[in-house]
Amino acid sequence: MPPIAPLDRSRSTTPAQSQPTTSTPQRTTAATTGGPSQTTARDAAREQLPPPLRENVLARPFDNNMLRAKLAAPPLSQVNSLVMSGKAVTREGLEAAHIADLVARIDISVTRTTLERQNRAADAEQEAHLQAQLREAAGAIATVDLGAMRRNYRAGVAKLGDNVTPTAVIKANGYGLGATKLAQVLIEEGCKDFFVARIGEAVDLRKSLRARFPEMADKVAINVLDGNLAGADPQLLIDHKITPVLNSLQQVKEWNAAARERRTALPAILQFDSGMHRAGMPNEDLEALLADQKANMGSIKPQFIMTHLAKSDDATKRPDGTFQAGEATEQQLANFKAITARFPFVKASIGASSTVLLDPKFHMDYVRLGGTFHAQDPIDGADNPYQQVLTLKSKIAQVRTVPPGGEIGYGGRFIATRPTDVATIPIGYADGPPRAPNGNPADGKESPVHVIIKARDEAGRDVSFKCPMIGATSMDMSTIDVTHVPEKYRHAGAEVTLMGDGITPNDFGGMYGTNPSETQTKLSPRIFMEYKESADVPKRPLDTAASANAWAA
Ligand SMILES: Cc1ncc(COP(=O)(O)O)c(C=O)c1O
Repeated sequence: MPPIAPLDRSRSTTPAQSQPTTSTPQRTTAATTGGPSQTTARDAAREQLPPPLRENVLARPFDNNMLRAKLAAPPLSQVNSLVMSGKAVTREGLEAAHIADLVARIDISVTRTTLERQNRAADAEQEAHLQAQLREAAGAIATVDLGAMRRNYRAGVAKLGDNVTPTAVIKANGYGLGATKLAQVLIEEGCKDFFVARIGEAVDLRKSLRARFPEMADKVAINVLDGNLAGADPQLLIDHKITPVLNSLQQVKEWNAAARERRTALPAILQFDSGMHRAGMPNEDLEALLADQKANMGSIKPQFIMTHLAKSDDATKRPDGTFQAGEATEQQLANFKAITARFPFVKASIGASSTVLLDPKFHMDYVRLGGTFHAQDPIDGADNPYQQVLTLKSKIAQVRTVPPGGEIGYGGRFIATRPTDVATIPIGYADGPPRAPNGNPADGKESPVHVIIKARDEAGRDVSFKCPMIGATSMDMSTIDVTHVPEKYRHAGAEVTLMGDGITPNDFGGMYGTNPSETQTKLSPRIFMEYKESADVPKRPLDTAASANAWAA
């Protein structure tokens, strides 16, 4: 590195000279660096500089030794070249030319990607800090236990034979928990086939996987249950390598025509109605399709055929622990078997999560898992083999005592019959939990919805209090009865559990008179959502070799 040239102390800088308008080097002397005009010039220069330089070079009056020290320390130690008046200046040239002078002439822009990287790191740090602050300030926090999700996937798959391919249904934004996040976790678990409902969801998923998981993004199949809905441009599906589930003869014909026009064959899944009467080709479509299979679907590459069961959770436990499917499910199986016989060389899928616990005849070639990941009860009334993934917590905003006769909330639906300590929690129907009228003791009605306040007593034991929701749920708030909770556990900020601490997803949905999928998919973006991995569920090595995407071939 060349020695640093001595500063020229022969000229002092006048205010005019120090203005950053000339490209002629204007030396800055130590004597002038503290003067008001120099400060003005420097401040002007400083404003022009990117933040790292601004903070690190110009924070103090110019001083060559200080500048050398600054250049040796991060982030400027990373700066190897700058552009000055359009000319690249190397780090060495920069020192030799006296950075103090250069910065005073302002025409410096940093070009190094290292600085950009540092800025990104600083941004990430700032973002992490912001997220931590937002978490503390949040009215409600949903925590997604990805370790439990991995365990549930493994437990479900362990019940399937080696020749059965597990696929993942992550529609409705992954049942409310983030489709891309879930896809990433499940891809790491070895899943390569995904279902969503809408074409828009499929496009978003492909795009976000390309951005966040590029090595796998195009190796996974993304199937769309809506199929090529009337009016949808087939090119949209083609561009994003999305496989439609064709639900009607019309959809089959249109997809076939799109393939023909492009002189190619396009992949698809064919869905048939085996008794649910909701989606898929009814018998008349099946017969018409097969009457001229070549004309109707000669340019379609069927991946498999599928149907959906209406009552697969209605099953009875046998003494040996296996489950006997209900009559309607057995009938749908028989109906679907008759359809599969018409497509002897095509694979088939009948079942969703519940079928994992049914006899292997329900597993066929592909099982479509959804609720499994979320630990929903697979069979009505049977023990749930899965581990809770989602917890939903809020915290007390304020507490008041309402005298007998006091009305609580909109419409005064709840009238206190005794002095009632009411805690308000910052979570309302706009956050997801449905609007509930809640019980009124005056009418002899118990509230169907309750939350849990859990704490540690002085002896370090867990104590838990079940608190009914009272008064109508409003948009942003709910009210709970905490009269029976000792004051030390129900102060502002005390944690309140809506889901978790014994309240399962099915309990939560049930309290609101619906199912766990509905309450979960309705969690709004206003809830702070966080993901945690478990150290005791180590990730598996990623299989980047195999592709399940018919489009990639
Ligand atoms: C066609 C189809 N397959 C699979 C699933 C997944 O169901 P589950 O969440 O019960 O696993 C659904 C969910 O609604 C579905 O509509």
